[in-house]
Amino acid sequence: MEDRLITSFNLEGDKENELSLRPTKLTEYIGQEKVKGKLQIFIKAAKNRSEALDHVLFYGPPGLGKTTLANIIAKEMGGNLKITSGPAIERAGDLAAILTGLSDFDVLFIDEIHRLNRAVEEILYPAMEDYALDIIIGKGASAKSIRLDLPKFTLIGATTRVGLLTSPLRDRFGVMCPMEFYNEGELKEIITRSSRILGAKIHDEAAFEIARRSRGTPRIANRLLKRVRDYAQVIGKGVINEELTKGALELLEVDKEGFDIIDNKILKAIIDNFNGGPVGIETLAYFIGEELDTIEDVYEPYLLQKGFIMRTPRGRIATEKSYLHLNRKFKGGNEPQISVFD
Ligand SMILES: Nc1ncnc2c1ncn2[C@@H]1O[C@H](COP(=O)(O)OP(=O)(O)OP(=O)(O)O)[C@@H](O)[C@H]1O
Ligand SMILES: [Mg+2]
Repeated sequence: MEDRLITSFNLEGDKENELSLRPTKLTEYIGQEKVKGKLQIFIKAAKNRSEALDHVLFYGPPGLGKTTLANIIAKEMGGNLKITSGPAIERAGDLAAILTGLSDFDVLFIDEIHRLNRAVEEILYPAMEDYALDIIIGKGASAKSIRLDLPKFTLIGATTRVGLLTSPLRDRFGVMCPMEFYNEGELKEIITRSSRILGAKIHDEAAFEIARRSRGTPRIANRLLKRVRDYAQVIGKGVINEELTKGALELLEVDKEGFDIIDNKILKAIIDNFNGGPVGIETLAYFIGEELDTIEDVYEPYLLQKGFIMRTPRGRIATEKSYLHLNRKFKGGNEPQISVFD
């Protein structure tokens, strides 16, 4: 899984790429119009009142630009960005140390916030609500709780699993930002911008072809662009045209929908082995030998959004689109019927 090209997780080699390709201002940030609109207003209001921005929660599939936005927010608010993640904060004391080290208007970014443990999470409640840290001094009957003031900071949480957040934590975020897949036009703009930064010449049709196969995800778009650029350099004359792009993507086994071997394995399994579904997600994951979390976080959201599979109470089913994609004859009848008895 780690070396799959279209995975939206970070791969080795993405890092330097991402630093230079990351937009640093909200106005440079392409797409996510709803999220951007919301942030623009709340940042402006907070700045006018000289207050910290309310806590923000980004949720959605990986690679859609959450970390990038956290960087932009910190910059717009004139604070520093401190990045950590749910599993990295093991004890309540670790979080207390991070919080007391912040200054006014700083941004604390906690990635995978659904993986915070309970004891740590409880430190966050008063910190988010009252900018306060409650600590217990002494033991037993003589133990006393004292309250320390914290700087006016902004917490930014990011998660691929908003459903796993406890409600007391979720309720403490003032700004909820669902991250959506990017459309082809937006991805094309991102690819064109990235090519400019990388100093690569790319034709419009080529940028569009990469955009169509990027699974709605900027991280994948940038990664494919880099590989296509390499291919164009070696096989062609350096300019990225449509033909070279198609050749490169074929070599990389990214099909015309942007699906890779695993996506196709999922669709094939549902159709060929489970008669089109419904099949439970656990069974499916086990059958194709992938982690359940990976299927749920990385593959399924895009297949669902594009209408290749559907979720029903009894499991996943393949839609007609999947049959067409795999050149199978669609028998029909598996899609849920609307019934007056439901
Ligand atoms: N709106 C955008 N415009 C231009 N480039 C973008 C945009 N969003 C993301 N990118 C690019 O996509 C890459 C991945 O973005 P980022 O690291 O912010 O994703 P993420 O949502 O934090 O991913 P993860 O969930 O894996 O942490 C970055 O290198 C950035 O250059
Ligand atoms: Mg990130």
